[in-house]
Amino acid sequence: MATVLAPPAIPVATSTALPVTFDRVSRTFSTRRETRTVLGQVDLQVPAGQVVAILGASGCGKSTLLRAVSGLDHPSSGAVVIAGSAVNGVDERCAFAFQEPRLLPWRTVRENIALGLAPSISKQAGRELIEELLTLTELSHAADLRPREISGGMAQRVSLARALARRPGVLLLDEPFGALDALTRLKMQDLLLDIHRSFPTTVLMVTHDVDEALTLADRIIVLGRSEGIQGAGVVEDLALDAARPRDHASPDFINQRVRLLRLLGVDPTNH
Ligand SMILES: Nc1ncnc2c1ncn2[C@@H]1O[C@H](COP(=O)(O)OP(=O)(O)O)[C@@H](O)[C@H]1O
Ligand SMILES: [Mg+2]
Repeated sequence: MATVLAPPAIPVATSTALPVTFDRVSRTFSTRRETRTVLGQVDLQVPAGQVVAILGASGCGKSTLLRAVSGLDHPSSGAVVIAGSAVNGVDERCAFAFQEPRLLPWRTVRENIALGLAPSISKQAGRELIEELLTLTELSHAADLRPREISGGMAQRVSLARALARRPGVLLLDEPFGALDALTRLKMQDLLLDIHRSFPTTVLMVTHDVDEALTLADRIIVLGRSEGIQGAGVVEDLALDAARPRDHASPDFINQRVRLLRLLGVDPTNH
């Protein structure tokens, strides 16, 4: 009888996760007509490898906060510190994925993912990493297709794989599944948990979906305004049970859900 060979296991990459500290981060935007403080003094310590979901009303400064981590934006005062060194300009230790996949239309899926590789990686290691990411994100069969030939969910997987190709210390996700249909969204949430097992990194994820935050995160931060303080700050810092998958019917889950919806100004009895 022929021996059946087990498929090659995906090598578990060593963790690249880095800790992030927000040290009294504030951000004021000035236009000709007005000066607006968007972020008040945000203080937060995120240990390496933690998955943090960030919730908050539209326009409260969530994207601005992520941009400050990546160095795409700079705080007006205070600092974001990654592994002991302050972010100052676009930071190579971070990778970003957005609500829109932002792929290059003339490049294949494989080539788009390769755009995320760090310049320092060897050709051979880069090739191996991309094959590993294609397998992990279930895109091997689509590696040679171009963005217009793939679905929205697949494009979003390419975007995630491209971000991971950097082997980032901090993965920044700004409403990454916000534009997907409900079913694809659930599949992407499972995939993100798989990814975090294979590529353990620190994840800061903005979402407007309370259930998504409760399903994926180790910790949930709510940004909002407090009386007497200019700009948004951390109004809730919720540590979640480490066990996964989360039981959506447990009293804890339901209580946390009600609490978060109320904080976001939504009537929980309607949802
Ligand atoms: N470059 C900028 N110049 C002026 N205002 C900005 C700039 N970036 C963001 N803002 C303002 O800051 C506020 C927060 O924006 P944002 O961080 O995108 O919110 P969120 O992601 O929570 O919806 C918004 O009112 C937005 O208009
Ligand atoms: Mg935003």
